[in-house]
Amino acid sequence: MTIKSFYLPTRIYFGPGARRKLSSFLQAGDRVLVITDQGLVQSGTIGKLEEVLNEIGCLWEIFNEVPANPQALDVEKALKVARDFKVTAVVALGGGSPMDVAKVVSALITNGGRLEEYQWEGKPFTLPGIPLYMLPTTAGTGSEVTQVAVIVDRATKKGIRSEKLLPLASFIDPELMLTLPPFITAITGMDALTHAIEALVARGSHPLTESWAATAIKLLGQYLRRAFAAGDDLRAREQVAMASTLAGAAMDQAGLGIVHALAGPLCSHYDIPHGLANAILLPWGMEYNLVAVPEKYAYIATLLGKKTKGEIRARAREAVTAVRELLSDLELPSTLADFLKEKKNLNQLAQEAANMPLASSNPRPVSVSVCEAILEKVLR
Ligand SMILES: [Fe+2]
Repeated sequence: MTIKSFYLPTRIYFGPGARRKLSSFLQAGDRVLVITDQGLVQSGTIGKLEEVLNEIGCLWEIFNEVPANPQALDVEKALKVARDFKVTAVVALGGGSPMDVAKVVSALITNGGRLEEYQWEGKPFTLPGIPLYMLPTTAGTGSEVTQVAVIVDRATKKGIRSEKLLPLASFIDPELMLTLPPFITAITGMDALTHAIEALVARGSHPLTESWAATAIKLLGQYLRRAFAAGDDLRAREQVAMASTLAGAAMDQAGLGIVHALAGPLCSHYDIPHGLANAILLPWGMEYNLVAVPEKYAYIATLLGKKTKGEIRARAREAVTAVRELLSDLELPSTLADFLKEKKNLNQLAQEAANMPLASSNPRPVSVSVCEAILEKVLR
């Protein structure tokens, strides 16, 4: 029997206005570095956080230069601001990129050294970081409850995994997501669905992760279309946000699979948003895995609202149909061909995908030829 575990010490606050619970952790005189991006400054979303910090009486500095795929250099810039300001806490406001930069800044302040020393197979963080708080503004990445930070280094997305990167508290506040445009809502929501589906069928799954993943799938099936269609639907935003956090925790503990393995090199080498790559790869990855765990896919079909009956293979296949219908309703493309016109790199991409560490948790072995065949399909 394999021993499995579930470790999530992060305190989670959830619901409209949850950001105000920061007052339970910060106090007057605390020196806070807010890590965010320019979009959230321009949209005025940052004002909702500044209001809370003002009420508490914190002093704060804003680092708003986090790009879409942050690099080691961006971490160094944020770290310098943090050290110069003599921060006592780090608050991330944003999607996965600001949250991931905030994680490593918090850990590097106490552990010292350079980011590269800690990336995959590097040395471990031994000390807890300075207090770290997360306010996600997208519902997809799940970074607010994961031990991973993904930073681009030398053109390859590299992760750092450490329990020391888990925030002290995360505030899942749908009021911070109301202005998210439909396309971003769709692709981040599909990222969350991919986390949930891959976690549910992953080799590392167990009853605790399966129940979190299953609830996430059900909520996304019920509410993602609504959040896409009407961004100001607070109830839909709230449920999709909850699903994203559940899915993030489930994948962090259970592992991912072939879809994320393929999305990794695709997004590193080409300018493809992570959620969009996952969305388009997901049905193909599911089709490949069906034969390994058909009963789980039949369960996913019911979670996505399919009234399944008949033999197990047909019921499992309904899960793929449900995902394709969702993609169509979210008005997402069915191919990545526009992003990747030169097919000569497919074998290299497939090799990189098959070598991704997370491919090992896929329920079926992930070979180079399987990856290449799926890439051919999504590039049609
Ligand atoms: Fe993802």
